[in-house]
Amino acid sequence: MHTQKLRDIAKALVATDKGLLAMDESHPTCDKRFAALGIPRTEEARRAYRELIVTTPGLNESISGVILFDETIRQSKKDGTPFVKAITDAGIIPGIKVDRGATELAGHPGEKITEGLDGLRDRLKEYFHMGARFAKWRGVITMGNGIPSRGCIAANAHALARYAALCQEAGLVPIVEPEVLMDGDHTLERCYEVTEEVLHSVFNQLYRQMVVLEGMILKPNMVLPGLSCRTQATLDEVADATVRCLLRTVPAAVPGIAFLSGGQSGELASARLNAMNARFRSRLPWALTFSYARAIQQPALEIWQGKDIHVMAAQHALYHRANCNRSARRGEYSAAMERA
Ligand code: 13P
Repeated sequence: MHTQKLRDIAKALVATDKGLLAMDESHPTCDKRFAALGIPRTEEARRAYRELIVTTPGLNESISGVILFDETIRQSKKDGTPFVKAITDAGIIPGIKVDRGATELAGHPGEKITEGLDGLRDRLKEYFHMGARFAKWRGVITMGNGIPSRGCIAANAHALARYAALCQEAGLVPIVEPEVLMDGDHTLERCYEVTEEVLHSVFNQLYRQMVVLEGMILKPNMVLPGLSCRTQATLDEVADATVRCLLRTVPAAVPGIAFLSGGQSGELASARLNAMNARFRSRLPWALTFSYARAIQQPALEIWQGKDIHVMAAQHALYHRANCNRSARRGEYSAAMERA
């Protein structure tokens, strides 16, 4: 295993106050977002949208790495330049989503398990040769009456650890993403309890599977009340609960924690990350950064609408959200940035 190289990539992904941009939506997810805005659901539309993203001027000021989908890593700009080359030339590290999505977990109604371990070793080799230097796998934990179950948490933690070990063997830094979903009416305290248990289970499995903690990134949810919980939390309450939970579960050897946005608005995702860094940054053993998809892309997608004439305005919006999140990493984001 190339341990030093893995450490260097993981460090580079969280260096100089940058974060990650997830642009790894599967066809069904991408189609759903396009359909909502009347954008054609075609391979060419997906390619054009991804070209818009990777050619955004100045993206590398805030973004250290982008997470691609299997279709995207094989695509090129209109002028024939492969996306991977365009990304690398811009000083951004290409990554790849390698899970094959979440499906019903047998014997556990309402719960999911992520698939994709079969044949993963060979797929990782191919992605490494194509230029990817890190990977992502998302496990889904659903909140509800009597769930998540221990069985669901254990199965997802085990799959994440098997994936992470295979990535490191192939020279790819694993982004380990156990996502406790926001849907539901659960309280902030309940989200805390579940996230704590999930992270304990994940790090226990990573240890069992011999994963080098210095060569990985954790991509967790923030600790939040459910979307339909009657009591919503302040920025400080979210920051306190999330940082306390992470301090109790994530070893100091992990170089960085990059949050998913999970359906939060772009502004809330920036404000909450900012609150954590403004209050705790100097006392944390790991970097606290972002790996957002919707919270960076959504305004740009809405402006683009599938039309060439909107590309520049959409890129401007994308740059803005990425830049707000870089400020949030420094604890220097403010609502005034949104008006500027
Ligand atoms: P969101 O930020 O939209 O939750 O997406 C992050 C991600 O990569 C999901 O796997």
